[in-house]
Amino acid sequence: RPRVLSGIQPTAGSFHLGNYLGAVRQWVALQEAHDAFYCVVDLHAITVEQNPKELRQNTRVSAAQLLALGIDPDRATLFVQSHVPEHAQLGWVMQCMTGFGEASRMTQFKDKSARQEQSVGVGLFTYPILQAADILLYQAHYVPVGEDQRQHLELTRDLATRFNSRYGKTFRLPEAYIVKDTAKIFDLQDPTAKMSKSVPGGVVELLEDPKRSAKKIRSAVTDTGREVLFDVENKPGVSNLLTIYSALTGRTVESLVTDYDGKGYGDLKKDLGEVFTEWVTPVQERVKMYLDDVASLDKILAGGAERAREVASGTLRRTYEKIGFVLPE
Ligand code: TYM
Repeated sequence: RPRVLSGIQPTAGSFHLGNYLGAVRQWVALQEAHDAFYCVVDLHAITVEQNPKELRQNTRVSAAQLLALGIDPDRATLFVQSHVPEHAQLGWVMQCMTGFGEASRMTQFKDKSARQEQSVGVGLFTYPILQAADILLYQAHYVPVGEDQRQHLELTRDLATRFNSRYGKTFRLPEAYIVKDTAKIFDLQDPTAKMSKSVPGGVVELLEDPKRSAKKIRSAVTDTGREVLFDVENKPGVSNLLTIYSALTGRTVESLVTDYDGKGYGDLKKDLGEVFTEWVTPVQERVKMYLDDVASLDKILAGGAERAREVASGTLRRTYEKIGFVLPE
């Protein structure tokens, strides 16, 4: 079965609708026919300062959300990145394979460092290289992510290619698995910007009170005119709402547009608020259920880490051997 790997940061606690529609929804679908590895990337989270208590809680909250959203620990390997030390170890090797200029071209670093109020750490700079190690450790065929990760996937392929040509074939070249329709969910207050917790405003959080989400949806910035049409160029706000509506209900955008013929933006927003509430309410209940039993949750994560290490340690060993390290007995 083809291998899949992806990761999500625990930084924010609650995932937002962009995380779900852009990535996690695909994770759930892919676990059926793929050998899937999904990790909560706590090592990545500390590239910006974290409160220890919050980080620990947010890591569990993230795992609980993945389970509540449909990741099945019997089918997929769900684990916490720091439980598998090979990530940091291969991360170092990959840092030594990366050019300084190459790392400097990563646009996410430029965005993130520009927004950072505290001083910017070196970890934020080398972040995409650790991400490359995450992927290469598992010899993943596909990496389901949103559009914003495309450049990091290119770097991963470049590093794999470089290593393979220098030391002999060691890593599989992974492909980004990006579902076009939901690859970029936009902010509800600024439908030209990606929905992101670091730019608060029109962000729908999965763990906030759904009443609050419905209100955010009702007050989403829409466009001039009044017809509900899918037109990304001229109606980015309405188009974003239609994308979300379609993804949450499984209905096509065309059929929604037909339905709202003669109705206005207000109807669309009110209905989408209800659709979201209905979808998220049972998700929240399941998150609570998982968090009410932390011992069982930690056990699931321990089992996942064990399975992940079996694969990761094999890759790391082969890598060390290729490089010329004396392998410990
Ligand atoms: P992170 O934690 O920022 O986001 C998790 C996933 O959500 C996607 N995403 C979006 N998709 C559509 N619309 C949006 N507005 C939106 N916002 C976020 C992201 O593309 C991502 O797929 N670097 C990664 C974490 C990571 C990783 C990995 C991913 C670490 N190691 C290995 C894949 C493979 C990140 O920060 O994602």
